[in-house]
Amino acid sequence: MANLAISDGTPVRTKPFPSWPTYDDRDVKAFEEVYRSGQWGAGSSKVAEFESRFAEFQGAKYGVCVNSGTAALYVALKAASVGLGDEVITTPYTFQATVVAILMANGTPVFVDTLPDGFNIDPAKIETAITPKTKAILPVHIAGYPADMDAIVALAERHNLIVIEDCAQAHGAEWHGRGVGSWGHLGCFSFQASKNLCAGEGGIILTNDRKLYERTWSIHNCGRTTSDSEFDAESLGGNFRMTAWQAGLLISRLARLEEEIELRNRNMRLLDQGLGEIPGIKVVPLDSRATRCGCHGYKAIFDPEEFEGISREDFLKAMRAEGIPIGHWYTTPMYREPFMQSELLSTKLDYSNISCSETEKLCENGLALSQSILMGTEADMADIVAAATKVRRYVGELKSKT
Ligand SMILES: Cc1ncc(COP(=O)(O)O)c(C=O)c1O
Repeated sequence: MANLAISDGTPVRTKPFPSWPTYDDRDVKAFEEVYRSGQWGAGSSKVAEFESRFAEFQGAKYGVCVNSGTAALYVALKAASVGLGDEVITTPYTFQATVVAILMANGTPVFVDTLPDGFNIDPAKIETAITPKTKAILPVHIAGYPADMDAIVALAERHNLIVIEDCAQAHGAEWHGRGVGSWGHLGCFSFQASKNLCAGEGGIILTNDRKLYERTWSIHNCGRTTSDSEFDAESLGGNFRMTAWQAGLLISRLARLEEEIELRNRNMRLLDQGLGEIPGIKVVPLDSRATRCGCHGYKAIFDPEEFEGISREDFLKAMRAEGIPIGHWYTTPMYREPFMQSELLSTKLDYSNISCSETEKLCENGLALSQSILMGTEADMADIVAAATKVRRYVGELKSKT
């Protein structure tokens, strides 16, 4: 008799997991308020209100709202004066926007491998990548797991580099009790539809530096200056502004973010405990200096050897048949993406000799659950662990099918 659902056994569950986004009448009221104000864009106080609320939430002094996370990164890179020939050190394990923003700013991405059995850039490998052309380090807090900001900030200070944090997946994540995005010179967030704080689209740049704030503000707003600006030399800028609709919705949703982050963190710990017991599934606990995860999804690493050599894809199929919508995350290191050779680039870049072995392993064997699953109950988490335990137990049955 078959045990696994993929071989016609009974699945662990058939109930769906929570979906995203969640919403209620508070969001509708926020829209109505913006609608009736007649101020739907520039001139609305909603954008400024959200900028100061979110900056405070993450522990930074200033915020500048923009219309996407990609725009946030691009504007931040330009505020940091990244231009043709400047090297920006980053991770190859990220969403393409991190790297595309560097390319659009005319910078050259320099890839440093991820931590062994981790998701973030390995700080021990950054220093050897620094050259006289290096302008900035751009760590990404992948899935909300904070990167090692102690090491990155120290390296940047030693080499006089700018740090731009990609926090697109890390709302509410904390390092030593203070929000990410407030550790580097500039921190960039996304409010795109899938994000833990979302408005369909949107982004924000945080900084503690008044001059960088003014440069950022100017670049995002057609080269204008803030009314109380001490900085009036900047004149090249575009329209990267956020609408009042987005800001109104984000103010409404920010009120419940804290509670949601705590729930996701509790569920992440349950999964770490449960899945961590299963040979062949490597969980990646938070760095002890990271006081909170942003939990933009749950991630772990599959070890085919412990699963009698079945592939990650076969494991995923078996898990999905058990009713667990599990997937992988990035499958291609950024230096192998075809866009790295786009004819739109000002300079031809050659990454044919680059290979980051830890990232390549992650691309092959990473496992990922989406953030909305972490909004579930303890019983939901127990089902995920039960399904993985079952697939591990009956792996022979799965192997005979492949
Ligand atoms: C790591 C990372 N950086 C940047 C971005 C870009 O954000 P957006 O989609 O809002 O442009 C994303 C969005 O998915 C992301 O995951």
